[in-house]
Amino acid sequence: MDGELYNQIILETLIPESLPGVSLFMKHGTNYTLYKGPDLPFTERDKQRLTNGQVEYLFVFSSEISNYNLYVESNLSELLENEDFSLGKRQEILCQASVSYVQEIFDAPAMNIKANLDRCKSLIKHILSDHFSPHQLMSTLGSLVSHNSYTYVHSVQVSSYMTALYKLRNTEDEILMDVGIGGLFHDYGKIYVPQMILDKPDKLTCSEFEQIKGHPNLGHDALDQLGILNPIALDIVRNHHEKLCGSGYPDGLTEISSYAKIASIADVYSALTTNRSYRQALTKDVALDIMSDQMKGSFDTYYLSMFSAMLN
Ligand SMILES: [Fe+2]
Ligand SMILES: [Fe+2]
Repeated sequence: MDGELYNQIILETLIPESLPGVSLFMKHGTNYTLYKGPDLPFTERDKQRLTNGQVEYLFVFSSEISNYNLYVESNLSELLENEDFSLGKRQEILCQASVSYVQEIFDAPAMNIKANLDRCKSLIKHILSDHFSPHQLMSTLGSLVSHNSYTYVHSVQVSSYMTALYKLRNTEDEILMDVGIGGLFHDYGKIYVPQMILDKPDKLTCSEFEQIKGHPNLGHDALDQLGILNPIALDIVRNHHEKLCGSGYPDGLTEISSYAKIASIADVYSALTTNRSYRQALTKDVALDIMSDQMKGSFDTYYLSMFSAMLN
């Protein structure tokens, strides 16, 4: 069966003697076999048996992933504070939960976004927790990128980089939250751009590039209409592709807010350091060199040096 029908889940997210409410599958080679149906609880014995068999991951139907997300979400604090798990494992759980959330939110009908906003806020609180450093989160997130998940992983990365930088600047919690939400939704407008164009490995035609260039405005207008984001988050959504030299889009601004300036740095850095189907991820140093040399004039040098210092 096609692997795209299944989502990989981390064994430790299943709490013994609880009811995940989804069918759990095991993968053998390229085949998936049912381990447990949705009506049966996951038991301590299951956990022992799977752990003894060195099983680290199970699989759930992609169509059931939102039930699983809700299950993880209701246990997330408990999972992230469980010191029986290594920090690396807790980090992996947080990253996987974050990417799944964002995927669900981007794929959900727009009217559901309002209900999902509180979920995003609680996610950002976990990301901002002192347990995790942005370095560690980013390397874990990077390993989750697959063809289908790039936009979701990228959104979580941009949000995490931005909030980490603002946190270093001792920004008050309310603004940190707005920045985090702006980062998570910055590319929301891409839901209106055909996937074929977003993934195209070759040079884009003028009309394709025009369609890509529409995403900041489309995202901004859709989210503005829903009335759920405040001005800081909307500014990030609309202006994250503006460049200081005025050659950015959608408006070619030269006066850009600090939020949008930092968003554009986080955005480009995340894109350069992530594997894509058409090119390998660049290392941190190479990406930062390109941003300060070849892309000179695009970014605010003060914030770019602050960003590099945070990563070093
Ligand atoms: Fe964008
Ligand atoms: Fe982006």
